[in-house]
Amino acid sequence: MRVRGLDLFCGAGGSSWGAREAGVEIVAAIDLWPLAGEVHDANFPEAEFISGRLEEVDVTALAKRLGRIHLILASPECTNHSPAKGNKPRCEQSKETAFQVVRFAEAFKPRWLIVENVVNMRKWSRYSEFKSSLEKLGYNLREQVLNAAQFGVPQSRNRLFLLADNQQSPPKLSPRKSKPKRIADVVDLNGKYAWTPLRRPNRAKATLERAKRGFAALGKKKPFLLVYYGSDGCGGWQQLNRPLRTITTVDRFAVVKPDPTHGHVMRMLQVPELKAAMGMPQRMKLESETRRDRYARKAARRTERRLAMTTPNRALHCWEAETTNRNSPERLDRPRDQHRALR
Ligand SMILES: C[S@@+](CC[C@H](N)C(=O)[O-])C[C@H]1O[C@@H](n2cnc3c(N)ncnc32)[C@H](O)[C@@H]1O
Repeated sequence: MRVRGLDLFCGAGGSSWGAREAGVEIVAAIDLWPLAGEVHDANFPEAEFISGRLEEVDVTALAKRLGRIHLILASPECTNHSPAKGNKPRCEQSKETAFQVVRFAEAFKPRWLIVENVVNMRKWSRYSEFKSSLEKLGYNLREQVLNAAQFGVPQSRNRLFLLADNQQSPPKLSPRKSKPKRIADVVDLNGKYAWTPLRRPNRAKATLERAKRGFAALGKKKPFLLVYYGSDGCGGWQQLNRPLRTITTVDRFAVVKPDPTHGHVMRMLQVPELKAAMGMPQRMKLESETRRDRYARKAARRTERRLAMTTPNRALHCWEAETTNRNSPERLDRPRDQHRALR
């Protein structure tokens, strides 16, 4: 029997990918983010992507249409549980999207559920109620905190997994025995990406301070990573010989290496490197534009428009720039505009 799966809050489809690798047929996936739809469609042409808020899905009609589902994967909205949000106000309504898992479980009655979230979800005031709602539907639960680094991924990423099975107690998952992978294995130190001098006039003081701490610990001959926006007390840098610190939705890692001309050069980690650090194979397509691409594209367009206003001939050039290369599959690999993202 082929296990038929439904991915709720599917995002880029990392959970769908893993499940398909394990033999699950991904039947459908739901997310409110159009970009998630583009990426999911590119990687799961066999699955139906449903765009919109889960709260607005007529789940009875959907269950009728999709037929038997054995496994629901769900990564409910996590930014409002996450410590990455710092002291900013947390949105309770957003946390409550987790109850969509209960609504879908009730309608589809899958044998298995896998709910993934940040570890802090356990501190949510309604977490016990969330779990007991699933138990009331007949599910046996197992709660485990797993770190991606213990499963062959070069990233330290602790996540909460709530496993549910309505026939038996879910088995305990055990980490692999192998040594954790190092981020050095997926960072391209000599390849095609553009580097900028670490010490240049407009470089942020905080960046230089982070680099200084790296040099103090490692000396000046070894490459290392700068870690931005971290509140993890790491001093704003990390070595390459261990798994990457947790990737978040912000561009937060730059690599620094010695350079014969400039002393040291740096650049942000690029999509193929981050993909590898997420444990995603390179054949997984992430060709839609990144946030960095979007800023760069908008800035380029603004400049073009300004020029078009002053020179009539420029209008044609502007149009050409907007209509060429936009969908080139190579675009994510190009070392364009990296300096814009460096602080
Ligand atoms: C943590 S991400 C999911 C990551 C995904 N499991 C993966 O492996 O790539 C959460 C996703 O939930 C989506 N989301 C948040 N609230 C939603 C809602 N009410 N309805 C549908 N999707 C929602 C977001 O757009 C985001 O893509």
